[in-house]
Amino acid sequence: METTIYYFSATGNSLAMAKKIATQLENTKLLSIPKLMNQNEITVSSSKVGFIFPVYAWGMPRIVVDFIEKLKFKNTEYVFAVATNAGTIAGTLLQLQKALKKSSIHLDAGFSVTAPNHTPLSEDGLTLIKFMHSISGKQVYDSYNERLLEIVSIIKDHQPHKIETTSWLSNKIGSFLYKGAMKVFKVADQDFSVTNKCTHCNKCIQVCPRNNIKMEKNKPVWLNNCELCFACFEWCPMEAIQYKEASKDLKRSHNKEVTYEEIISRGLDL
Ligand SMILES: Cc1cc2nc3c(=O)[nH]c(=O)nc-3n(C[C@H](O)[C@H](O)[C@H](O)COP(=O)(O)O)c2cc1C
Repeated sequence: METTIYYFSATGNSLAMAKKIATQLENTKLLSIPKLMNQNEITVSSSKVGFIFPVYAWGMPRIVVDFIEKLKFKNTEYVFAVATNAGTIAGTLLQLQKALKKSSIHLDAGFSVTAPNHTPLSEDGLTLIKFMHSISGKQVYDSYNERLLEIVSIIKDHQPHKIETTSWLSNKIGSFLYKGAMKVFKVADQDFSVTNKCTHCNKCIQVCPRNNIKMEKNKPVWLNNCELCFACFEWCPMEAIQYKEASKDLKRSHNKEVTYEEIISRGLDL
């Protein structure tokens, strides 16, 4: 059975997960969602289809919502999703289930994976993430690997699995806050700035999933269509990109199992 996995990953957690799953399934294509976004309509004809992406503000990243709207399904027999997160998935996978239903597609299995490292957002940026940081990297990493084995065994055999959520209350609160957060995220790029360490290498432009950065007078300029994914911030080799004042002292971090070249690629052959 052929599998296609569509992924979106800014700091590498979701792509690391996608790579691990793909290597354990046979005959699997890994395709980058941002790189497909310039097509008007995309058709998938694999019988098994997966979606792997991060949780943003208790829901799906805007780019993943837009992608699902474009995707047409042919011959689909089994659909799974993995949402990587920092501890609060809320109703993200229910949101995906609803979006797929519009194309008469059933989400057979939906997994929440608490990933090993998270974007260090500024103090006043998104305080919820700070709270989630309290989980130590080591603990999370152990359970992450166990989770991987469980997920692979379920999707290998096309087993149904519950759509994982946090709790009824956090799903409700999350989905209420989500809509507002998405509007704020879009223009939150006004808080990015660049120091004179910038060598105008263009890496921020290439890594931006929304083509939301251009170079003007040898400095990146953000165009107000931001996912707030922090890919530009995390992958800048000079650490020249700042997010508000508080980011100055923050260490840049991304998943060590993923390279910059992989993040910007159209997809991976494993
Ligand atoms: C803007 C933003 C919002 C986030 N919101 C949530 C959230 O609501 N719940 C959560 O558990 N994690 C949240 N996270 C953490 C990410 O889901 C988590 O770090 C994820 O593994 C990142 O995936 P990636 O490395 O593939 O980009 C958020 C991260 C960012 C950048």
